[in-house]
Amino acid sequence: MEMELVMLLRVAWIAGTLPILIASIPWSKLNWFHDFLLGFAKRGKTMQSSSSSSRKFTVPQKFFCHFYALAVAWTTFLLVATWLYAYNVAPLVSQPLQFSSITSYLTGGSHSVWSHGSQSLKIEQRYRSWLSVLLLLLMEAQVLRRLYETIYVFKYSPSARMHIFGYLTGLFFYTAAPLSLCCTCVSEVFQFASNFIQELIVKGKDQTQLGESNWWGFVYPLLKLKWHAWLGAAIFLWGWIHQRRCHEILGLMRENSEQVDEYRIPYGDWFRYVSSPHYLAEIVIYGGLLVASGYSDMIWLLFGFTVANLVFAAAETHRWYLRKFDNYPRERFAIIPYIY
Ligand SMILES: NC(=O)c1ccc[n+]([C@@H]2O[C@H](COP(=O)([O-])OP(=O)(O)OC[C@H]3O[C@@H](n4cnc5c(N)ncnc54)[C@H](OP(=O)(O)O)[C@@H]3O)[C@@H](O)[C@H]2O)c1
Repeated sequence: MEMELVMLLRVAWIAGTLPILIASIPWSKLNWFHDFLLGFAKRGKTMQSSSSSSRKFTVPQKFFCHFYALAVAWTTFLLVATWLYAYNVAPLVSQPLQFSSITSYLTGGSHSVWSHGSQSLKIEQRYRSWLSVLLLLLMEAQVLRRLYETIYVFKYSPSARMHIFGYLTGLFFYTAAPLSLCCTCVSEVFQFASNFIQELIVKGKDQTQLGESNWWGFVYPLLKLKWHAWLGAAIFLWGWIHQRRCHEILGLMRENSEQVDEYRIPYGDWFRYVSSPHYLAEIVIYGGLLVASGYSDMIWLLFGFTVANLVFAAAETHRWYLRKFDNYPRERFAIIPYIY
């Protein structure tokens, strides 16, 4: 199952990224394709000036909160299941472990990390499980903040819309991204979770135990992760803090309810350098996940999709600012300071 899922995720990320890359080639014969794709990618302010026909098949932009509600539920489930799996089945440090419980949670020996492969593979697999816990913890911090912001910080204009295709892409993204972060152990985690739930149903709560809980044991293995995991987490935090600030700036521009349909030039934080610093921060955030993962192939693909998607949207946002405001700061770039 793991191989099929990994393959499916890889194909999905590549299939999502390739059209954007093709549409971004500066070749006049591809202009129609660029405009075609842009029709799906426009939202909020960049869709305001579109013709009424291109506003067909749209949903309110405030539906962004659906992405994060889904992301919080799904990431929390994966995080809890992976953490419990790692603690009970894949310890990184020696502890008087729950080996007796392992067999009752993992059936079908061929799927068990303990029953096949070399010793080094087992250690590698255990390490990857704990790395997945860290990546999911970071993702949780991101999607929780985004859910809060879509509800309490952003004041979406009632007329702001996004294409239904963009909406479905968002739902896909927040299903596939958390899965990609734990794809190296996801089939064992699902097996573990399903056996645990079955046991819970059959035996009842009182007789179903996950071995002795030792809170330090849940945290200590995370401290044993290699340096790249913590460097990635620091990069993630840097992007996270700046995205929070930039979203606050955007939210504050509509403090009064009369301003809810207004657009102004934002200033402060990374707005000094680029028109879409919140997109730049998102790239830093996913760059942090990439570094933390030790440059895993899957996270490269996730990162590639995120960069392509946001650079494409940022280019249109930059053009929109230049068209709308005569006094727009000319030194600002679209998304990458001093480059693009
Ligand atoms: N990982 C990914 O692939 C991905 C994809 C998409 C988005 N995201 C993230 O989601 C976050 C939000 O994205 P978004 O595309 O919704 O951002 P956005 O279009 O900039 O909108 C954010 C909010 O700010 C308002 N706003 C934007 N510019 C404004 C201005 N000049 N004056 C007044 N209000 C303004 C918008 O109002 P209107 O609604 O009226 O426009 C909206 O309420 C970003 O941080 C982005 O990185 C990530």
